[in-house]
Parts: sequence; structure tokens; C-alpha cells
Amino acid sequence: MSEKKKMQTELEQRRESTQATRPEIQKVDFVWMNGELVAWDNATVPVMTHSLHYGTGVFEGIRGYGSEDKLYVFRLGEHFERLLESARICDLECKYTSTEFENACVDLLRANKIRGDCYIRPIVFVGFSGINLGFINYPIDAAIVAFPFKQYFAKAGLDVCVSSWTRIYDPVTPPMAKICGNYVNSVFAKREAAKNGYDEAIMLNATGKVSEATGENIFVVKDEELVTPSVGSSILKGLTRDTIIFLSKKLGVEIIEREVGRSELYTADEIFLTGTAAGIAPVLSVDKKPVGNRKVGAVTEKLAKAYFDLVVGRETFGRDDWVTRVY
Ligand SMILES: Cc1ncc(COP(=O)(O)O)c(C=O)c1O
Repeated sequence: MSEKKKMQTELEQRRESTQATRPEIQKVDFVWMNGELVAWDNATVPVMTHSLHYGTGVFEGIRGYGSEDKLYVFRLGEHFERLLESARICDLECKYTSTEFENACVDLLRANKIRGDCYIRPIVFVGFSGINLGFINYPIDAAIVAFPFKQYFAKAGLDVCVSSWTRIYDPVTPPMAKICGNYVNSVFAKREAAKNGYDEAIMLNATGKVSEATGENIFVVKDEELVTPSVGSSILKGLTRDTIIFLSKKLGVEIIEREVGRSELYTADEIFLTGTAAGIAPVLSVDKKPVGNRKVGAVTEKLAKAYFDLVVGRETFGRDDWVTRVY
């Protein structure tokens, strides 16, 4: 086979691998919808649901970690507080308080008898009424879905690229809110990366500085100093990011929040991504340039271990309030 043909075949295979043919999410018995537990197959919305057309919804991603007969949910209350902040930014009048959502979430996990690792997806969205972009007096619906979930990335170490797409920024649609429509920006970057054979994309903000990955924050280690783009760098203020900042201080790793230049990615000793779905994901190369020696570095390893101990309830590091015990 000629070199050109080989490359074409490889590209085709990569393209196909981005198109799943069966649902990845495993159905469970119930979905929480507008205050009630509804059978999974009945938890549907009309095709003319406003948010389906205009991205007018906000959501969260929360993780539960099962070990033996226990199930722990990490930073449950703060996820719902962020959901309500996103709703406020998006002008959605949510009917539920953070505490009501927390209770609904625990009820849902118990009703579905979920015991292993899982993912929880709350969403607040503009429902079915009309096509007016102003959505005045339209229903604001809410749902929570929980399903078994192991890991977001199929690999333990990631090969990433810097995206050709610029990260959205505050005067356009605020990246600090988890607004459904915001994720088109992430989807563009993620699909471009996947088609080019990368596991993930790092996005630069409007001033050309590093912002974040498509669904994760980024940390860079250089000369034993840990750096992460500051909140003003067009990022989502990740709860995993916050947890890593907390753990760094606990474990005596120097941590700095500041603007990060693209070139710093090419000279880093270690890089890792953080997110609720992704956990702590080491980056082994950026734009095909190896990070350090392409091995998981000591700082990444230390923080990843501490993070895992914390989420499975093995260690509290003084924050036993961060873990909600379901069973
Ligand atoms: C764009 C983006 N950045 C960062 C993160 C990481 O945030 P968290 O650690 O709260 O999951 C996420 C995931 O929610 C995200 O979607």
C-alpha cells in the first residue's frame, strides 16, 4: 500500500472511531424530572423544547465513587451551587434550591440502586412553549440523570494538541457558566482533535493565552512549581481544579494561578488535566512534542493519588464535608 493510501486509511479509521454506533450510557430505572422520579423511557422532552434549538440550558457533571458497599458523591452541594450560579448568569429562574437538588440526587441514586462508580448529570433548561429567543414565561424544567460510569478517557496518558478554535470568552458567552450552548465551542475543538488523531484539545483564549481543555482545566509543572491559568483566562472554575489547588497546599507543592503562554506547554516537565469526568489525566505530548520524558511525573502522581484517596473516602485531608455518603 502506498504511503498516501496508508495515511488515508488511517485517517478514515480515526474518523470512524469518533462516530459511536450504540449508546454509551447504560439505562437505569429512573430519572428525576421536575420533582418526580420518572421511568427512564418516559423521561422525554418535546422536539420543540427551546434549549434543544438554542442551547438555553445549564448543566453539571458530578461523580459518585463506589467502593465495596459504599457510594460517595464528591462535592455534591458545590456542584449544585455552581448549577444555580450558571442558571443565574443564563437568566433561568430555577424552581429548586441547592439543598432540594442534593436530596433529589441522593433519592435518585438510591432508587436506581447505583452502587458502583457513576456519573450524575443535572440539567436546568428552557422547556416547550414557543420559538421566542427571549423565552419570557416559558417553563424552566429540571432533570437529574445518574448512570454507571468508569472513565472519560480510554487512555491513562494523553496526546493532545493546541486547538485552532479560540475559547469563548466572557463578553460572548461566559465560560465560567456551564451553559449548554457554550459546549459547541468545546465540541468543535474536540472533534478537530479526534479527527487529527489526538485525545484532547487545549484551547487558547482571545488573547492567545492557554485557557483550558474542552472539558477539563489544565495544570503545568515546571521546575517543581505548579501553574494553572487564572480564573480570568476564560476558564470554567473547575471543582477538581479547586481540589488540586487545595491538595497542593496541603502537600507542600507550590501552586501559582496566572496567565500561561502556549510555549510553556512545550517546555513543561509535566502537564495534567483535571475534571470531574476525567479525574486527573496526565498529558504525555502536546502537538507531538513530548512532555518531559513522556512518563507520568512525580508531582502529577502525588496529586492524583491524593485526589483519588479523597474522592473514594479513604482520606479526608480535613474536608469530610466534601464527600456525601449515599450508602
Ligand atoms: C470546559 C470545562 N472546563 C473544566 C471542567 C472541569 O470542571 P470540574 O472539575 O468542576 O468538573 C469542565 C467540566 O465540568 C468543563 O466542562
